[in-house]
Amino acid sequence: MNKFFVTTPIYYINDVPHIGHTCTTVAADIVARWHRSLGEEVFFLTGTDEHGQKVAEAAEKQGLDPKNYCDKIAPTFENAWRNLNISFDHFIRTTDPRHKEVVGRVLQKIYDNGDVYKSKYEGWYCLGCEKFLTESDMVNNKCPLHPAEKTVWKSEENWFFRLSKYVPKIIELVEDEQANYIFPEGKRSEILAKLKSGVKDVSISREQVKWGIPTPWDQSQTVYVWFDALLNYYSATQFLEGKSQFWPANLHLIGKEIIWFHTVIWQAMLLSARLELPKKVDVHSFYMIDGQKMSKSLGNVISPQQLVDLFGVDGSRYLIARSFPSENDSDVGVGRFSERYNADLANNLGNLVSRVAKLALGRKVEKKGVKGDREFGELVDQLKLDEAIGWVFGKYIDASNSRLNSVEPWKLETNDPKRVEVLDYCIDNLIKAAVDLAAVMPESAKIILDCFEGEVKALEKGLFARIK
Ligand code: MSP
Repeated sequence: MNKFFVTTPIYYINDVPHIGHTCTTVAADIVARWHRSLGEEVFFLTGTDEHGQKVAEAAEKQGLDPKNYCDKIAPTFENAWRNLNISFDHFIRTTDPRHKEVVGRVLQKIYDNGDVYKSKYEGWYCLGCEKFLTESDMVNNKCPLHPAEKTVWKSEENWFFRLSKYVPKIIELVEDEQANYIFPEGKRSEILAKLKSGVKDVSISREQVKWGIPTPWDQSQTVYVWFDALLNYYSATQFLEGKSQFWPANLHLIGKEIIWFHTVIWQAMLLSARLELPKKVDVHSFYMIDGQKMSKSLGNVISPQQLVDLFGVDGSRYLIARSFPSENDSDVGVGRFSERYNADLANNLGNLVSRVAKLALGRKVEKKGVKGDREFGELVDQLKLDEAIGWVFGKYIDASNSRLNSVEPWKLETNDPKRVEVLDYCIDNLIKAAVDLAAVMPESAKIILDCFEGEVKALEKGLFARIK
């Protein structure tokens, strides 16, 4: 059986889940469900990033010990994903002792391979990003993603990782059409240009941060939170029973602000530790609200629960996928979501299902074992979720609506061949649409299939009630 391992970033636990995090998680869930429907054995991993300075500070603000703070917040992420019917197989927390053990083991290997040395570093550090900023990261001397007070001057003696040593190999991989792992194309060329413009080594430990995993060869320092966090993808496959075959990952899904860590630093760490590299890193853009990135520090977030309360679980999943910021940033907001929900789900799909169910009640339906469409799956694999859903709507839903409206079967006798033919056509289309859309809206797809497969049954209640 083919194995498929898909991941989301592990989210910083100092934040609460918002629909920026949700969009990556829902996208990963759609990919996971699609691959399961192909009969593949899927491992879908998500979780929380719990070490580092900003988490320690968030805990302190609440007067909690960092571990207690993490134990309190981690369930808000896990529950948010459960409430959205996210089918993750494991929720990893970097404070899990089993993860910490793997981090220690891999770092020791990197050290033993001669890729670590001690050095001093000074520079501007962004607490929001948990990274030193380079000139090109900064706009007007600040981090463009976080408010100015998060940028602090730091001077430390740290352990450094020989990132530069692995740059030629990484360039070779990214340039090779077959081996390349960075998608989409625009991101690949961006990374290539940056790789070629000269890359410095990076620090791998922190002298002043106590909330972290001790560096195995020097207990006075802790592992830099990003090195700890990236290793979650590998560690889960090592400490969970029966998952070791899932390494290397097939797909890491990430937002564009963490591309360098995922396409360069991560690969260099794995090369140094002599581990296999992930096959694909798919980078998406941002959800924006009024032209600004949605984030807690900007105070403009929509929570996943707010969406579920308004649009239901499947409605929310649909809206997230439909506005997924594949290559470009995508402006979102409750007003836009409501319009889309009413237009696509209430007035279009929901209405079609209830009309056809009523008109064809009791009809025997032959169709069995319909498979998902290759065209839909290819778009899902490229994370073109809006296009994938648009394809299903165009081919099955809009086509059915227009045939229904031109034939007007409700004006014809029950056994009129024209009426029979158009209803069969719509039923067939709805079954095919539901099979594809099951990855996006699992519960609603099931309701549609239960209604039309075998024999047309009455819908217990309408799908996707219109909202005001
Ligand atoms: N902890 C690190 C990731 C470590 S992975 C080894 C981190 N966490 S985060 O909480 O800041 O989450 C960042 C990710 O959340 C982004 O890469 C993206 O997947 C998602 N998003 C957060 N805000 C977003 C938007 N406004 N829009 C789209 N996705 C965004 O970075």
